Amino acid sequence: MTVEAVEGALPTAGRPEAPAVRAMFGGIAGRYDLLNAVLSLGEDRRWRRRAAQLARLRRGGRALDVCTGTGALARLLWRRVGPSGSVLGVDITEEMLSLAARAVPEVEFRVGDALELPAREREFDAVTMAFGLRNIADHQRALREVWRVLRPGGRVVILEFSSPRALMRPLYREYSRLVIPRVARLLLGRTGAYRYLTSSISAFPGPEVVAGWLRDAGFERVSYQRMTLGIVALHTGRRPA
Ligand SMILES: C[S@@+](CC[C@H](N)C(=O)[O-])C[C@H]1O[C@@H](n2cnc3c(N)ncnc32)[C@H](O)[C@@H]1O
Repeated sequence: MTVEAVEGALPTAGRPEAPAVRAMFGGIAGRYDLLNAVLSLGEDRRWRRRAAQLARLRRGGRALDVCTGTGALARLLWRRVGPSGSVLGVDITEEMLSLAARAVPEVEFRVGDALELPAREREFDAVTMAFGLRNIADHQRALREVWRVLRPGGRVVILEFSSPRALMRPLYREYSRLVIPRVARLLLGRTGAYRYLTSSISAFPGPEVVAGWLRDAGFERVSYQRMTLGIVALHTGRRPA
């Protein structure tokens, strides 16, 4: 994909359309992991480790990672379920999935939309989604799909950017304004994709609202924890047994 195609197809924060989202991630797939590591100062690995832990999977368990990208969280889930278990990673962007398939051959990856998951009802013990929900226009439908494929008693874990604590807000605003575009230009040779990143983060609601979405979708024991001074939040819930 050309730089022009990525720039021309940038999604709109708050109402991201799937084709534009796919075009953007397709264009940055090769640099995605590096950018994540640099922009989060390596924290992204700790966030995903915690997400995998909160999925509370056992050996032999079955897990689904929605919006799996290059498969970083899917890999951590697989380590927990082991060879007797199974992990499926789903994403709409083929370029991301081909990197995932090469990096994590133990996991099965399928191209698919979070709004219509390519999975059976009640198939999984846990469903995770890291930095995906923000990119999906219809979050209610996405959460209903998670519900559908979870077995009763199964757990949902959602990792997403959040509104940082008051102390951190001015610093984070300046970081988004000054640092992210410069790093993006350095690593990608363009800034458009990361304009979307910063605008979609600020358009995304705080953790109380996301917790409400989970409750509305029917999950119980809904809770969340902030990490790294509230830059991200980890949401958990359970499909009633
Ligand atoms: C910010 S990346 C997150 C990737 C990975 N989960 C991680 O932790 O790094 C968002 C991913 O969501 C995928 N995505 C966006 N909308 C989607 C949808 N409707 N269905 C499935 N995947 C989607 C994108 O293709 C992209 O790979």
